[in-house]
Amino acid sequence: MASVEPSLADHDHGAQEPTVAGVLIRARVRESDRHMSEELVGTVEELGPGSVRGVGGWAVLNVGGARYAVSRHCRHLRADLAGGEIDESGCLVCPWHQSRYDPTTGRMVVGPQAGFQRVPGLDTAFILLTKLWPLGRAQVIERDGKVYVRS
Ligand code: FES
Repeated sequence: MASVEPSLADHDHGAQEPTVAGVLIRARVRESDRHMSEELVGTVEELGPGSVRGVGGWAVLNVGGARYAVSRHCRHLRADLAGGEIDESGCLVCPWHQSRYDPTTGRMVVGPQAGFQRVPGLDTAFILLTKLWPLGRAQVIERDGKVYVRS
């Protein structure tokens, strides 16, 4: 009788014929992979520490060797965050009004500056907004010397 429970052998490539459940699990994993897309960001050298690059709908940044991808448009007035820079605390700074985003959460930690900092409550409102509606985030992977965003 065929086993219906997945076993470690199911995940050990070629070690043993997969069980019925093992085949189903693999099929589901392959199906979920099909819905993921990868976009080439550049080479590892091009995306070195301190760099920010845009690809598709993503701003991809390297903060001290850790790479992040966040959705590309600022929650304030939709500036292209791929044109931003990384500050000393590792936040992504919007190029238009210097809002700062934590790339690990997608949340704004400092609201719009320039003339906007004189608008009472605006900073707090945007910080609260991005608690509920942070920048989108995607996985950044490295393969064969190249960096990809997987979403
Ligand atoms: S558009 Fe980003 S802070 Fe204004």
